[in-house]
Amino acid sequence: MIRLESVTKIYEGGVVAVRDVTLDIQKGEFVFLVGPSGSGKSTLIRLMLRQEPVTRGRIWVAGKDITRLPNWKVPYLRRSVGTVFQDFKLLPNKTVRENVAFALEVLGRPRGVIGPQVDQVLELVGLADKADRYPRQLSGGEQQRVSVARAFVNRPPILLADEPTGNLDPATSVGIMRLLDRINRTGTTVVMATHDHAIVDAMQRRVVALEQGRVIRDQRAGRYETALRDTIEMRTSKTDQEGQGEPEATDVAPEGDAAAPAAAPVAADTREVTAEVPEVGVENEGEAP
Ligand SMILES: Nc1ncnc2c1ncn2[C@@H]1O[C@H](COP(=O)(O)OP(=O)(O)O)[C@@H](O)[C@H]1O
Ligand SMILES: [Mg+2]
Repeated sequence: MIRLESVTKIYEGGVVAVRDVTLDIQKGEFVFLVGPSGSGKSTLIRLMLRQEPVTRGRIWVAGKDITRLPNWKVPYLRRSVGTVFQDFKLLPNKTVRENVAFALEVLGRPRGVIGPQVDQVLELVGLADKADRYPRQLSGGEQQRVSVARAFVNRPPILLADEPTGNLDPATSVGIMRLLDRINRTGTTVVMATHDHAIVDAMQRRVVALEQGRVIRDQRAGRYETALRDTIEMRTSKTDQEGQGEPEATDVAPEGDAAAPAAAPVAADTREVTAEVPEVGVENEGEAP
């Protein structure tokens, strides 16, 4: 569904934000991108959206090589990819219903289709009774539900979320995670950047850890940080299956992803590429938006 091949991103001024990242994300997976502030999480998300061009490497999203996509086709890419951000990005002068409907209007959907689809997704996110409110009349958690509804109303095969719980308290974050989990269970591939340890540890999904733009760990049903003990076991172990939590066979979607070239290497298996003992307490405080 998403494949990155030796992707490097160097910003103007020479900051290397992403270094030689190769990553395969199968249809239906839920993947956390974790790592400290500045490790390249947001840049990876922006590259997958073609909000930024890669410096080197290639990226396939929903069957298209987006690094070679002409600019005029980028809006078509966005139809396949819903996005959720830390700061909600709602239109303040539109109601909840209008904010969500707008996502379909820009795609040119007919009125008769938009109404029922909006009602349905507002039901899904639990905001049917607040459809006529404006964003300022909602709590942060409710505003984020609106932005999830807007991202999902077109039923895209992929949802990319960059710190969607970054502005929310822990209890409210749990509600948003339940929602993303439900969306994932409909078959939507979800990639979520976060530095929230509690959420990652509770969800037990695939974890791709970044450090200075590099993938330092890619673990199925992982935790935010590998425990020191696990890392030592892993280093002394002959197989790479030990000490990494329970491998969950159902996590791996079957092959046949049109996005991946025939020579695609290993799928989302449990593999540990941590070379060093991870630092403790990477970051657990809120990050500036
Ligand atoms: N538009 C930009 N121009 C220059 N440097 C950037 C830009 N965006 C991010 N960076 C730098 O790239 C690195 C990765 O940033 P980012 O992807 O935002 O990390 P994260 O989301 O993990 O905090 C950081 O060193 C950051 O300062
Ligand atoms: Mg970020």
